[in-house]
Amino acid sequence: MKNKLRTIKSVNLKNKHIVLRVDFNVPVKNGKVLDDTKIERALPTIKYLLKQRCKLAIVSHFGRPEGRQVKKLSLEPVYAVLKNKLPKAAIQFKNGIPKLASSVLAQNDIVLLENIRFDKREDENSVVLAKELAKMGEVFVNEAFAFAHRKTASTVAITKLLPSYAGLNFADEVKFLTKALTPKKPAVALIGGAKVKTKFEVVENFLKIYSKVMVAGGVANTFLAAQGYDIGDSISDPSKISKAKKLLKSTKMLLPRDVLVSNKNQRKVRVVKIEKQKVLCKKGEQIMDIGPETIKYYSQQIKKAKTIVWGGPLGMFEKPKFSHGTLAIAKLIGSRGSKHAIVIAGGGETTLAIEMSKMEKYYDFISTGGGAMLEFLSGNILPGIKSLLK
Ligand code: 3PG
Repeated sequence: MKNKLRTIKSVNLKNKHIVLRVDFNVPVKNGKVLDDTKIERALPTIKYLLKQRCKLAIVSHFGRPEGRQVKKLSLEPVYAVLKNKLPKAAIQFKNGIPKLASSVLAQNDIVLLENIRFDKREDENSVVLAKELAKMGEVFVNEAFAFAHRKTASTVAITKLLPSYAGLNFADEVKFLTKALTPKKPAVALIGGAKVKTKFEVVENFLKIYSKVMVAGGVANTFLAAQGYDIGDSISDPSKISKAKKLLKSTKMLLPRDVLVSNKNQRKVRVVKIEKQKVLCKKGEQIMDIGPETIKYYSQQIKKAKTIVWGGPLGMFEKPKFSHGTLAIAKLIGSRGSKHAIVIAGGGETTLAIEMSKMEKYYDFISTGGGAMLEFLSGNILPGIKSLLK
């Protein structure tokens, strides 16, 4: 990225009222936050701003209520977590934008607003909503990298109304993901996961700039189907077959050499070598993981690399029987971190797999972005970033 991001460290923010946009779109079940990674990652910015004696009006979306007040999509569970993590701060939860925000902020350190997507103008990038939000502060800070691929009132329109800066994690995300796009060679990318459509653009971009691109999961299944293999009921995206055929012409594309196949009740599991035999699995069967040969083959590529980027699990790692590929590779990639290679990973499921491997501290950077990271790595300029550039 040629233009530099304006960050909160580049300006004096002492005693300012700040509109802080975060992405607290975290997994919640029965009113409890299941994974607080995104909240944790916003904390350094929140603490830094509080230390500058700033008052914060925090704005976030949660889920996709599409302009309706959906009780289940309230940010209240997040409010409970935030209060716990910041026991010394006076924090209030507000349904709607307070008319006299400055007096509310005078009595509090932080006001967390209810899910901004309860207002349909958020997703419309409405200037009117942005004006209402902007009235709450003198400065806008964006700490919602995972939302930077969306063009909304609280991330883009507001930047035309207030001096705007990136938060600390936001700036780190851009720094590390930019490194991923300007890699030290040899550079390898590993792209897996079940959401196939969004991954093809990333594979295509990596084929231009990386030494090898390895695929797994639904992405690999789509490539295998494009090669004429019968993949039974495995996850794949038939709309991407013709694209896959084109990408397969690159000698940089690496596909699994064997896979773990299972029937519907997942009791019978077998390793299937990918050879001339064109039937990998029958109807009622699915590819669930990469096989041992592939673990070895992909490991050899990873060990040679100076840059490693990983997005998307290699199989259904949530089930112990099918977690070997993902966890073996998660451990290996971690072991290459900082010393041997620069190691960057991201996406919700990949982050969970890395946590399961207990190797997270060895990764140079784990992105909070799912869709945002993929769009960034596809080479697109994200609207949320563009509006913060100098
Ligand atoms: C995410 O969780 O990836 C972001 O918060 C984006 O959410 P959205 O896809 O609902 O816009």
